[in-house]
Amino acid sequence: MSENMFRWEQDGDGIVTLTMDDPDASANTMNARFGTDLEATLGRLEAEKDSISGVVLTSAKKTFFAGGNLEDLRSYGPSEAQKAYDQSQAIKTALRRLETLGKPVVAAINGAALGGGLEIALATHHRIALDAKGSKIGLPEVSLGLLPGGGGVVRTVRLLGIADALLQVLLQGQQRNPRAAQEVGLVDEVVDSPEELLSKAKEWVKANPEAVQPWDVKGYRIPGGTPSVPKFAANLPAFPANLRKQLKNAPMPAPYNIMCAAVEGSQVDIDNAAKIESRYFADLVVGQVSTNMINAFFFDLQAINKGGSRPDGYEKYSARKVVVLGAGMMGAGIAYSCAVAGIEVVLKDVALANAEKGKDYSKKILDKAVSRGKQTQEKADAILARITPTEKPEDAQGADLVIEAVFESPDLKKKVFAEIMPHLAPDAVLGSNTSTLPITDLATGVERPEDFVGLHFFSPVDKMPLLEIISGEKTSDATLAKAVDIALQIRKTPIVVSDSRGFFTSRVIGTFLNEAIAMLGEGASPAAIEQAGSQAGYPAPPLQLMDELTLTLPQKIRQETRKGVEAAGGVWDEHPSEPIVDRMVELGRKGRSSGAGFYEYDEAGKRTRLWTGLQDEFHGATDSDGLPFEDMKERMLFAEALETVKCFDEGVLHTVADANIGSIMGIGFPAWTGGVAQYIDGYPGGLPGFVERARILAKGYGDRFTPPASLVEKAEKGQNFRDSIG
Ligand code: NAI
Repeated sequence: MSENMFRWEQDGDGIVTLTMDDPDASANTMNARFGTDLEATLGRLEAEKDSISGVVLTSAKKTFFAGGNLEDLRSYGPSEAQKAYDQSQAIKTALRRLETLGKPVVAAINGAALGGGLEIALATHHRIALDAKGSKIGLPEVSLGLLPGGGGVVRTVRLLGIADALLQVLLQGQQRNPRAAQEVGLVDEVVDSPEELLSKAKEWVKANPEAVQPWDVKGYRIPGGTPSVPKFAANLPAFPANLRKQLKNAPMPAPYNIMCAAVEGSQVDIDNAAKIESRYFADLVVGQVSTNMINAFFFDLQAINKGGSRPDGYEKYSARKVVVLGAGMMGAGIAYSCAVAGIEVVLKDVALANAEKGKDYSKKILDKAVSRGKQTQEKADAILARITPTEKPEDAQGADLVIEAVFESPDLKKKVFAEIMPHLAPDAVLGSNTSTLPITDLATGVERPEDFVGLHFFSPVDKMPLLEIISGEKTSDATLAKAVDIALQIRKTPIVVSDSRGFFTSRVIGTFLNEAIAMLGEGASPAAIEQAGSQAGYPAPPLQLMDELTLTLPQKIRQETRKGVEAAGGVWDEHPSEPIVDRMVELGRKGRSSGAGFYEYDEAGKRTRLWTGLQDEFHGATDSDGLPFEDMKERMLFAEALETVKCFDEGVLHTVADANIGSIMGIGFPAWTGGVAQYIDGYPGGLPGFVERARILAKGYGDRFTPPASLVEKAEKGQNFRDSIG
């Protein structure tokens, strides 16, 4: 018989310590072994109950318990709801046996307890957590399109009350450190050492021989109970509407299911509540959105954070001193992120005053963090002290990394590199934060093009997690490996792409914006366009976003790209958005920074309403009274997905993980899709369904929707997109 993953040790006081230690894995998860071994362990506990005084549940792994088995959960087909329901019920039945054993059970949480891990702990009578570094506690299932189906909804509602369970734990999936988890009420005690963890757990067992769950005591009421608490009861009817408003009608079923499971389950006893929870869980597991989100936010993200696109065979690198050239909006944010990661920063601008202003940006963020208790004054001071503002290139002496963020001009960029080169370490990484200029061309301005690399940050840098690393024609693999290491060092999520105008992210987001703008010329009402964007799940509607980015930016990129195409003897294929953008610029409506764009702005720069002139200006040529709403949504999503396929065809993108994570984290591609490549596989009917729909859109709206030959071939071969890339 194979070893039980619940290691059993009984001490002289009759306390059984169960140490979870899956022999086949680096972390404990709810896999098949867990189910069998838990069953066997419960059987033994029940059989030997008379000689047991209590149970301490802990783990031999770094984490307490890693949660559900996501490999399994992502593979459920649409017809397997009963199987998912049964599985969820089986876990809950077992955990119910544990909490009704009649003996005190304590969770000694030695590391992270997320998802299923916390659900196990919630089924014990007392939770003590070790304040271990990086240890997180929470129920993040919602961020994977799921709900906690191992009793997480049922027990948090009973432990904290519906309002707190939903708002503090379930609907946003917050992950907290042990002390913060204690403040919310998810754990009862926090200790500082592993020894203390076990000794306190045993002490509690001894002191509470009759322990039962609060919900198993006669007369128990849910804290802050539902109808008994007037305030929450009064707000309850508005809850679904508020949730819908927050989600902007995007197709995200998990929050609704969580809310329903919590509210419906609060009206019945715990066993019936568990069944309700399982039903809503099964509904999510068999749906496409959870598969999409598990693929992206678990598997793809994990691959990237392990340095998935990093060339193999190079030693791990870390930067010590960076010189940031240009202390404007981007340079200031980059300086902050580097300083937080412990890197010494020289922040250089043309004038010292500019550089100091750039440093002030960090001071503002840090002051706010200190005032909110998120940062100590001492740490904030240390971070700030790492940033040296200057106008002198010689202050960069010995820097092993440059991140250039001056104005978007190739000549200026080449000039600032030439000026700084003599002061750098001989093998310093030369990074440019250009958002549009080809890296290969910029690299011609330096003596070591093999060390030159695009480091494309997103605004605001301190909040946006993505870093798009761009390799130019001459960028060496060693430099790419260093760039990935630097990204991880400054806690960014790196994707690695090859040079192309607009790289991957700007190129793809451009197609979304262009598609939306084109609809104006086809008779769609501006408000309907914005609504289509929101309902498709985009965090910012397209015309609003275009105004923020300013219309002259894509216009300039397009004019330059067109010049290049025509110079090479090609024919420019005009997009229907082009005359609209040109006309807007001609009218002086260049976006928010010019005080007018698709929207109107007041004197303080606040967006007031859509410009009423849009229809008169652009609908003249059409007698259309609108477009099919579903087409509007899908045109935006398809435009980006099809451009992504082209990026793969042209060798700009190399992995599905980079495409998915880059699109969600960098350019706001809707999270429910699991990213721009996953959207293709997750489309109804899979890849063939996507190809078919693209053909229909091409017939209705233009050749740009014609599916690329590579995609058609894959569909015909019966491949899915993810597997075809490898
Ligand atoms: P910005 O206009 O806010 O800042 C540019 C800074 O460079 C100014 O402080 C300016 O004084 C300084 N500068 C000009 N000449 C210099 C020189 N010779 N030496 C040192 N500093 C000099 O511009 P922003 O928005 O920060 O953009 C900078 C770069 O980042 C551009 O290449 C832009 O395309 C790129 N980028 C911008 C994003 C955005 O959202 N704004 C996003 C990603 C990249």
